[in-house]
Amino acid sequence: MSQPQIFRTVADMRAAVALWRGQGDKIALIPTMGALHAGHLSLVKFARENGFVRAIVTIFVNPTQFAANEDFGAYPRTFAADVDKLASIGVDGCFAPPPEEMYPPGFCTKVAPGGPALAGLEDRFRPDHFAGVAQVVAKLLNQAQADAACFGEKDFQQLAVIRRMARDLDIPTQIFGVPTMREADGLAMSSRNVYLSAEERRQAVLLSQVLQETAKAMRAGEDIPGLCAAAAQKIGAGGFALDYFEARHAESLAPVAALADGPIRLLVAARLGRTRLIDNLAV
Ligand code: PAF
Repeated sequence: MSQPQIFRTVADMRAAVALWRGQGDKIALIPTMGALHAGHLSLVKFARENGFVRAIVTIFVNPTQFAANEDFGAYPRTFAADVDKLASIGVDGCFAPPPEEMYPPGFCTKVAPGGPALAGLEDRFRPDHFAGVAQVVAKLLNQAQADAACFGEKDFQQLAVIRRMARDLDIPTQIFGVPTMREADGLAMSSRNVYLSAEERRQAVLLSQVLQETAKAMRAGEDIPGLCAAAAQKIGAGGFALDYFEARHAESLAPVAALADGPIRLLVAARLGRTRLIDNLAV
């Protein structure tokens, strides 16, 4: 079990990247906010399987993507356990900057993502979230100058925002989306699942079940608005407060009315007690 090199500064991370690149190695960046689980580790595995022999996992709970009423303070911070997990799969580097390395005094530049960031999904409930995500991801991509960066499909709108931003800002890092890892019962893995009580954890499986049965019925040609309304009703009846259940175009995230408008992605967000869960599935 080899420990990852811990980088606290951009300069140290860049020096390692330059060294590895000089050795002919391809490098992947895996941006995270820590509280690592098997889903994060699958991003590293994906990078390796795609020829990126060096992986840097970033751990930074980014304050600019949380609203004042959200869980920035309570977000799980498990650095020592995270490093152990990275060591167990031989990750080369871990960039864990202090806040002042990311946002030094005088920092004032914002990133204002459009397109998928304004699709009317997460942005309806978290209006400033994607500006914060785009800001920190733009910084991380520029800081690391890796060949590729991997993001989970679980945050599907986030992935679309990041792809669009990297394209629009000519950031040369190749962006990969990696399929969602699920618990045995189908619940999408998320660092926020630790907030669920035992009873809520049992209820939570409903989201992935409804996604699956709705996708199946949609593939069979059933009416899309009717299926989404029925899905919303089932999720509400299962004890959730639903934010949205929508069928969207998988790339533009534009609303779709018929199978021919696809490829279609179903996206859901709902609250169970104090925990907000999101999930999505290809039709
Ligand atoms: O998905 C996350 O964990 C975060 O939004 C990210 C991409 C690491 C940016 O802080």
